[in-house]
Amino acid sequence: MAWTRLLPLGEVPVGSARPVRLGPDELLVCRPADAVVYVLEDVCSHDGSSLGAQDLDGGAVTCPRHGARFDIASGAVLRSPAPVGIAVFPARIALDWVEADLED
Ligand code: FES
Repeated sequence: MAWTRLLPLGEVPVGSARPVRLGPDELLVCRPADAVVYVLEDVCSHDGSSLGAQDLDGGAVTCPRHGARFDIASGAVLRSPAPVGIAVFPARIALDWVEADLED
């Protein structure tokens, strides 16, 4: 695994999601609990919108354009109109940074 630093943990309040742009990668860091983070692609599978910064709704994020919802742990679709899930990357907290393995 190749871990990439995304942002300091303190920039993601518990219960929120924050977008991160890293070169061509559009990512969304979700922190549902103090020491738990998930990293998803920040591209809605319906029409390519950014999911963007938001408060988590339980374990889900919601697309601001047409309301699709995705599970933050699996990327699975919880509500249409998204046709398929979004990618989830391995993530961890290391030295108060959020890191992800962005390799396929
Ligand atoms: S672009 Fe996300 S629900 Fe339409």
